[in-house]
Amino acid sequence: MMCAQARGVLRRLPTSTTAPYRLWSAASLRQDKNAKASHHGPHLAQKMNFSTSKQQSSGNLLAPPDSGKIKETKIIWHHPIASDNGTLSGEHTHTECSYSYSEKDMRDICVAHRDARCMSDKVALSLVRLLRWGTDFATGYRNPKKDERVAKRFLMDERKWLIRFIFLESVAGVPGMVGGMLRHLKSIRQMKRDHGWIESLIEEAYNERMHLLTFMKLAEPGPFMRLIILGAQGVFFNMFFLSYLISPRTCHRFVGYLEEEAVITYTHAIHDIEAGKLPLWNNLAAPDIAVKYWEMPERKRQMVDLLLYIRADEAKHREVNHTLGNLDQKKDPNPYTAEYHDPSQPHPIEAPDPKRPCGWERRDVV
Ligand SMILES: [Fe+2]
Ligand SMILES: [Fe+2]
Repeated sequence: MMCAQARGVLRRLPTSTTAPYRLWSAASLRQDKNAKASHHGPHLAQKMNFSTSKQQSSGNLLAPPDSGKIKETKIIWHHPIASDNGTLSGEHTHTECSYSYSEKDMRDICVAHRDARCMSDKVALSLVRLLRWGTDFATGYRNPKKDERVAKRFLMDERKWLIRFIFLESVAGVPGMVGGMLRHLKSIRQMKRDHGWIESLIEEAYNERMHLLTFMKLAEPGPFMRLIILGAQGVFFNMFFLSYLISPRTCHRFVGYLEEEAVITYTHAIHDIEAGKLPLWNNLAAPDIAVKYWEMPERKRQMVDLLLYIRADEAKHREVNHTLGNLDQKKDPNPYTAEYHDPSQPHPIEAPDPKRPCGWERRDVV
């Protein structure tokens, strides 16, 4: 459906956009025409010149507030694991922030799957597989390994990756906010402590929104994609809200499986860049919003670095949600915000933990 309609889903950014973001500008389209024969074939420039949308709002959506007195709003929440020393030395740093992503942290991230062990897990996994099928269909994606015959038709280019990223991130920002909101209301209603879950869940939602805002700097969705996102959010928010009231444990497992898929998606995209299949991203700089949020060091600000950071975030969400899905939802504290009696014993940390891609078992953390 949307594969065929994908020509109209993203607007190109205005030509006044600065160099790193002119991926969809008229100038770059002309360059792409020259580059097309070398890699993507004759259809790329034609496909990228897709927008018939008015451009009055393009580029202004992420601009500073439109106010005579206010210059800018501060970023209150920083990335939980942002680097603060401007290098990727392979060492964790401890100053204002707890940890940094090291190059090794990010490269050690692997695709992983937690087996479904009970009926609730199986329900969560089936729903994610259904959602994955729908998203693949909607964004014109197919794993080439599964079907080599259609590999060419479903070859991913920069534009198709961006459509997929924007759609995925617009959905991914919902669960943390719903879970955090419901636990917040429950804490108020019952006049009881929450023991650290709300902060982690809202922080996850914020982190996902930062992923979305970052991709929005590279391409702006057109009216058709906005409609799809509106519909998806309306359905998904309400379904997740009701599901979280019934079985929060299944919901966290669902998010754990969803994040497994996110890690797979970003891993494929990173491989595509490194294999030279996405030439427009070879030297594309990460947007400023991303450089600030992840505090990306100076020599690590390319598109591939950005995807490594985002994949590390998704891997952490995978671990956190699988762990939360193992806990007693009513009694257990959040192990990721906990102080332990004996910190020398292994316990959940804020940085990605390559030894626990599928989370911690309850007996090991509470
Ligand atoms: Fe994300
Ligand atoms: Fe995520």
